[in-house]
Amino acid sequence: ALTVTTAGTVTTGAPGQAALTGWGRPAPVSVSPTPGSPGIGDSYFPDYGNGGYDVDHYDVRLRYEPATDRLSGTTTILATATQDLSRFNLDFALDVESVRVNGWPATFAREGDHELAVTAPRPIVKGQSLTVVVKYAGIPSRTKVYGYTGWTRTADGALGVNEPESAWWWFPSNDHPLDKATFDISVSVPTGVEVISNGVQPRAPLAEAGNRTRWSWRSVKPGATYQAFIAIGQYDIVTDTAPNGQPVVNAYSTTLGERGPAARASIERTAEVVDWESGVFGPYPFEAQGGVAGPIDGIGFALETQTRPVYGPGFWRRGSNPYVIVHENAHQWFGDSVSVADWSQIWLNEGFASYAEWLWSEEQGEGTAQELFDFTYAGYPADSDFWQVLPGDPGASRVFDDAVYDRGAMALHQIRLAVGDDAFFRILPAWTAAHAHGNGTIAQFQALAEQISGQDLDQVFTTWLFTAGRPEPAAAARSTL
Ligand code: ARG
Ligand code: ZN
Repeated sequence: ALTVTTAGTVTTGAPGQAALTGWGRPAPVSVSPTPGSPGIGDSYFPDYGNGGYDVDHYDVRLRYEPATDRLSGTTTILATATQDLSRFNLDFALDVESVRVNGWPATFAREGDHELAVTAPRPIVKGQSLTVVVKYAGIPSRTKVYGYTGWTRTADGALGVNEPESAWWWFPSNDHPLDKATFDISVSVPTGVEVISNGVQPRAPLAEAGNRTRWSWRSVKPGATYQAFIAIGQYDIVTDTAPNGQPVVNAYSTTLGERGPAARASIERTAEVVDWESGVFGPYPFEAQGGVAGPIDGIGFALETQTRPVYGPGFWRRGSNPYVIVHENAHQWFGDSVSVADWSQIWLNEGFASYAEWLWSEEQGEGTAQELFDFTYAGYPADSDFWQVLPGDPGASRVFDDAVYDRGAMALHQIRLAVGDDAFFRILPAWTAAHAHGNGTIAQFQALAEQISGQDLDQVFTTWLFTAGRPEPAAAARSTL
């Protein structure tokens, strides 16, 4: 590592500006800059995210050609160094043209298929502000990371929507939920194409030269990088105002054909669902609401993209589906506002969003949570592999296993039976309040549940989240209806 001991050589400001540490006087510092870690320390995905800096804001300014899937543009990252840095990594897979750090041209090198190592043109001091400007271009649908692409090219556009990795196909980032940031996302497309993203539109779509239109979206509450999305294509956009006064923006792909009405009948209930969930989970954490009905040739899943989930066409196959609306919007609290600190703890997202569906069923009179517990439990024979996957630690290749969702919901029902309804429905909003716009762990959730209920919950957590095999459920509580 380079050690700089001569105060005058530590230049941390932009060219022509006073050094951050000096303001004209010699900086009394001894800088020993070292490289930031190429991973943030996730136990399942050790190379996801990076160390040495913390991002505050991403300004993602793009240009997209639906005819060729060519994506180009500039992302400006506003960050703060968390150590003295000689170099740092960004997670990114497209081809990079240039990188600047605080105005200085930086050298950069690709390491593997999704790491971009940036060597700081001057040593960076812990606590210093960093402005990193990355110019790039590429064809995301042809850019493979670990042998696949999470970018979906469609007949009329594309979807930048995936979990747990999505960002590196369209913007450079510190790609882990431990580093949340606000976003400005703007995309120029041929006029007549729509672009939908998170949050609100700070301005109306703007005409540009060459018969193009630039769409702008803004997220003012911090979000994880996998929560950022873009949907590009032919969409009908419908705006409204939610019961809490917030803007609702729903977008419906025009490619859905006979599934279109079911998509609308489902997504149009978003504000109603969010209103009900706010009563159970605590105040809605974000600034806008809505949903995107993705195209017929798009994704085979739904994703809780912040403020505005994106739904694949499969959810409308058998008619309207309020349960997926309940699930994805429950994630706005469980996953988006309170995010995992480590991907091994995905139960905090999927178990809770799945249990929200049971609570909705109970509320709607379509079956109590206990009935859904019994039905789901009976659906998996004791010798099924299902019972071998631990919802509290499913393994990196099984973060979306049925066990995380179904046994995960069963675990919450068992916790509810253990603490009683009164405590359970105080624990949920206390959890979302305690970790709003941050991260939470299973241990923290257990501690909070124990504190509120006054009970030792070690056995129910261990049995239902961390033990292989089919457990014996507790006797059903008296009906609360
Ligand atoms: N979090 C999503 C859900 O609500 C699951 C996403 C699965 N991702 C994927 N690439 N299949 O269920
Ligand atoms: Zn989910």
